[in-house]
Amino acid sequence: MISMDRIAVTTSARGGHCQVDLARRLADDLDVPFVRRMGRSLEAVADRYSEDGRGRLEAFVVVEASRISVVRLEDAGRRNAELFFHPGMALSRIRRLKHGGADQMVEAMGLSRGDHVLDCTLGLGSDAIVSSWVVGSEGRVVGVEISPVLAVITREGLRSYTEADPDVLCAMRRIEVVCGNHLDYLEGRPDRSFDVVSFDPMFREPVTTSVGIAPMRPWASHDPLPEKALREGMRVARRRVVIKDRANGDDLDRLGVSARVGAAKSRQEYGVISLDEEGMGKGGSSL
Ligand SMILES: C[S@@+](CC[C@H](N)C(=O)[O-])C[C@H]1O[C@@H](n2cnc3c(N)ncnc32)[C@H](O)[C@@H]1O
Repeated sequence: MISMDRIAVTTSARGGHCQVDLARRLADDLDVPFVRRMGRSLEAVADRYSEDGRGRLEAFVVVEASRISVVRLEDAGRRNAELFFHPGMALSRIRRLKHGGADQMVEAMGLSRGDHVLDCTLGLGSDAIVSSWVVGSEGRVVGVEISPVLAVITREGLRSYTEADPDVLCAMRRIEVVCGNHLDYLEGRPDRSFDVVSFDPMFREPVTTSVGIAPMRPWASHDPLPEKALREGMRVARRRVVIKDRANGDDLDRLGVSARVGAAKSRQEYGVISLDEEGMGKGGSSL
């Protein structure tokens, strides 16, 4: 993950009052400086900043009129390297569910209306949006993200995105975003307090065709899922713990999870630990 010491928040080149207000608020949330743009290029803003003896900035969170983007100076001008919120495949997955189709993740989670889901690896929130739509307003989805930049981009995106059906937008607005390490969050939760706990760690080898994910990679934590977090997930879940891995990956084997859900041609599979009344895991995991 890129160090927070090298990041500032600014607006688009001629950002107005609303953008400045939001940029200041995000700078406070991230505990990084807000810098006025005043029509200058990002490089010029970074140069001026370092002339004041405050070190070299490497990236900006940029509050634009219609979205918030994250730009690394080494990528400046390469529009497809910018990170910004998008719901990824969530909208097409929900469309399929609406037409009676299946979704591997929903199947692996055994998800239904009213369920409470703890998504321990929120990222840009695509999976959380699908979960939130399935569990509906009687349910609850909490998403934990360790990267402060990703947590802010996702929180603001879920709050302000407009290009979807009203029921999907409501599902997005209901997701509770928590910035932090899932292990800390899990340790603070009572036993059996969520129906489903899910983990979707970064794949060690990227799926190269996944273009939408590429700009988030420098901001994400690539640490493998620790056994301790999985154990805590099994304590906090009432019904299931679900872990995503790439198809034929070795993470589920490492974690001792044998029960899998995944279509033969899919690039990913889900390890499923079903918990009985005593919270004992079935489907593997000798943890
Ligand atoms: C593969 S992405 C998740 C994508 C997500 N499921 C989606 O649909 O957008 C994994 C995310 O988990 C985050 N992460 C990794 N370790 C974490 C931890 N210990 N606590 C919270 N988030 C973590 C990474 O920063 C990254 O954003």
